[in-house]
Amino acid sequence: MAFTLKINGSPHKVDVDGDIPLLWVIRDVLGMTGTKFGCGQALCGACTVHVDGAPTRSCVTPVESIGDSAITTIEAIGREPQGAAIQKAWLDLEVVQCGYCQSGQIMSAAALLKDTPKPTDADIDAAMSGNVCRCGTYQRIRAAIKHAAGV
Ligand code: FES
Ligand code: FES
Repeated sequence: MAFTLKINGSPHKVDVDGDIPLLWVIRDVLGMTGTKFGCGQALCGACTVHVDGAPTRSCVTPVESIGDSAITTIEAIGREPQGAAIQKAWLDLEVVQCGYCQSGQIMSAAALLKDTPKPTDADIDAAMSGNVCRCGTYQRIRAAIKHAAGV
């Protein structure tokens, strides 16, 4: 089936089965490899993108469910003020270890700041609990979110 996906502000035409996960379309069809595959079961958060601003696990999101919604990936999150602030904080506090989970972490953190500009520890826990980091960078992630939020 043919779909026109609105990704990072531009239309992208693809011809794929409707039940293919959005993650495969983004990575394998369109070649945007910043979004990562981890578990494929909505358990790790590595594949997180924004769909109309909401953090969404693209590994379990059929492409046919997207419709006219606007998708934002890690490649463009820095164009949004919260995304730019999060990326700067990640660099300032040297959050990243191996890096594999970090696209998803940044997408979840940017969505948190959009909804909750001054998050509490509980807000951070709630927003970030679905993003797993095997390198254990959780403390630096928490500090960087607070740094970006100025709290
Ligand atoms: S790859 Fe989607 S949540 Fe793990
Ligand atoms: S930085 Fe390595 S998995 Fe998170």
